[in-house]
Amino acid sequence: MKKLKITVTAGPTREYLDPVRFLSNPSTGKMGFAVARAAAERGHEVTLVAGPVALKTPKGVRRIDVVSAREMAAAVGASQGDVLVAVAAVADWRPRKRAAKKLKKRDMAGVLELVRNPDILKTAEFPVKIGFAAETGDPAPEAVRKCREKKLAMIVANDVSEAGSGFGADTNRVALCRADGTVERLPKMSKLAVARRIARECENLRA
Ligand code: C5P
Repeated sequence: MKKLKITVTAGPTREYLDPVRFLSNPSTGKMGFAVARAAAERGHEVTLVAGPVALKTPKGVRRIDVVSAREMAAAVGASQGDVLVAVAAVADWRPRKRAAKKLKKRDMAGVLELVRNPDILKTAEFPVKIGFAAETGDPAPEAVRKCREKKLAMIVANDVSEAGSGFGADTNRVALCRADGTVERLPKMSKLAVARRIARECENLRA
């Protein structure tokens, strides 16, 4: 089997409006770290670009810690390789301005101006790209559409409104959705088992 260079993004990003306040989401990084671990266990060269999470680096994985979406985009852009697996829950927006000092309550207008963050998965150049999608309700139709829009080989979609699936859980029930419209629904399984399946998919898609 050919050794692949695989870049994985994981965890949330933080978008600061001042030194002590940020926009983010409840991603814990478990799924992305599991993908990095599974790919490394299969002998691949793995770069893990991680947002702020409290997890240990899997054995044999090169880890780059980042905070914001723009930092994550820069690290992914510098990594290059065969496959990008974008598991991170990237904040879609950031505050237009980041104050150097803590904002005073009285100086806050009650309205926060936001600008769009770069779409890392869409803009990164890798021969094979795999995305993740969290939706509430059946994620498959939207995932197939996104596959085509972002030129992805596959989207791993999950319904985050279901118990034991999504943010923070140890298990996940996912559907593998491809641009050709095929959807393979997997049973609920551990995130590591999902990750091992994705690692094998990386090899098949690159072959
Ligand atoms: O379009 P949506 O945000 O639902 O797409 C989710 C996928 O895109 C995930 O794989 C996520 O890691 C990736 N993404 C990204 N950069 C963004 C937003 C999402 O890489 N700014």
